[in-house]
Amino acid sequence: MRVLLLGSGGREHAIAWKLARSPLLSALFIAPGNPGTRQCGTNVPLSPLDFEAVADFCRQEAIGLVIVGPEEPLVKGIRDYLHACPDLEQLLICGPGASGARLEGSKAFAKDFMTRHHIPTAAYCEFDSSESAQALAWLEQNPPPYVIKADGLAAGKGVVITSSRAEAANTVREMFDGRFGAAGHKIVLESFLDGIEFSVFVLTDGNTSRVLPSAKDYKRIGDADTGPNTGGMGAVSPLPFLDDELMAKVRSRIIDPTIAGLAHDGIPYQGFIFFGLIRVGQDPFVIEYNCRMGDPETEVVMPRLEGDLLELLLATCQGHLDRVTCGESSETAMTVMVVSGGYPGAYTRDIPITSLPESGLLFHAGTTLTENGQLATAGGRVLACTALGPDLHACRTAAYALAGQIRFEGAYYRSDIGQDLL
Ligand code: AMP
Ligand code: GLY
Repeated sequence: MRVLLLGSGGREHAIAWKLARSPLLSALFIAPGNPGTRQCGTNVPLSPLDFEAVADFCRQEAIGLVIVGPEEPLVKGIRDYLHACPDLEQLLICGPGASGARLEGSKAFAKDFMTRHHIPTAAYCEFDSSESAQALAWLEQNPPPYVIKADGLAAGKGVVITSSRAEAANTVREMFDGRFGAAGHKIVLESFLDGIEFSVFVLTDGNTSRVLPSAKDYKRIGDADTGPNTGGMGAVSPLPFLDDELMAKVRSRIIDPTIAGLAHDGIPYQGFIFFGLIRVGQDPFVIEYNCRMGDPETEVVMPRLEGDLLELLLATCQGHLDRVTCGESSETAMTVMVVSGGYPGAYTRDIPITSLPESGLLFHAGTTLTENGQLATAGGRVLACTALGPDLHACRTAAYALAGQIRFEGAYYRSDIGQDLL
């Protein structure tokens, strides 16, 4: 199978690394990829948002399967575009069409979907920019803390949680005034849920689902969950508190009704669903849906996934996922994200990376090769250092040993990833 993987982060490097182990793979292209994915296949200088160029590349290289890594091309309808090309009818695409990607692309859509299908989530109200007075009145009538969400994609920055009514009111005004562009023209206000967050990933062909290893990520920049939110500073898989009883509830109350709800609503869905969940007391609730894998969760999920990822993805896209099983290793995995100084605020790019560990699972997230072949930083999140071990203690030590060998000016990482789970 000739495969094109779209994306350029640590998630895509981890997916490419796993695909490269498949005996079913005959060629792997990554667009645009990064210096890490280059070790697994051929990087192609194409933007995943240039649908026409992606279609041309698929024709030129006789691609059989396209795997879409990030959410933006999915929400913008890459699947629908490629499927509408008469000569690409045979092309398999892992990732939903725009209708399914709305689970991630519109918070209001996702809340309405969950309400209609009786899937547990926080109580909510939605308001559009003509209803500013009603939204502000809602804040007056409800106790803090307030959870305010821009409806559309906002690069992980569209959620504000605050106990101050004044700050909440300001946020509502700013969102309606365009702080997040069109993403904030509609907002969702929801009740605050207090509990432990975790992520469950499934592959579905629209009927059957297969649960991948679960994970937890660490979103804040600072130790002990302090400071602003980031894309994710580290991850651990599996989770000691996610026992059979809780997982059975996640399946029966959340995963199965979601797959059945999509089918009931006539929304075809072939690809990953990332359930962002929270355990309140003994019960799971949905915080958010994503139509793709998580980053950096993928950097711990792929190393623990047993079996052939390509076989699973092909079964997903061909509608026979019921014939394939999916196992997970008994080992624990942990990843530590090494980031640029200043991230998630402003940071400098093109800083030379002067030292890297010689072995170990290093997934490139934001790196580039300069003209003279020097590896340099190219993003806020630079390198994910993953280790596997018999237990969390062992893999924590190993992951931090890797992170400690990375040198570039301003390099930073959290020192407490996994500590809460020991
Ligand atoms: P989201 O983009 O919807 O995942 O929200 C980003 C983060 O905000 C989540 O990972 C949670 O940490 C937090 N969050 C979102 N909604 C709620 C809620 N209803 N109660 C508590 N925390 C929330
Ligand atoms: N790590 C969270 C995400 O990928 O959305």
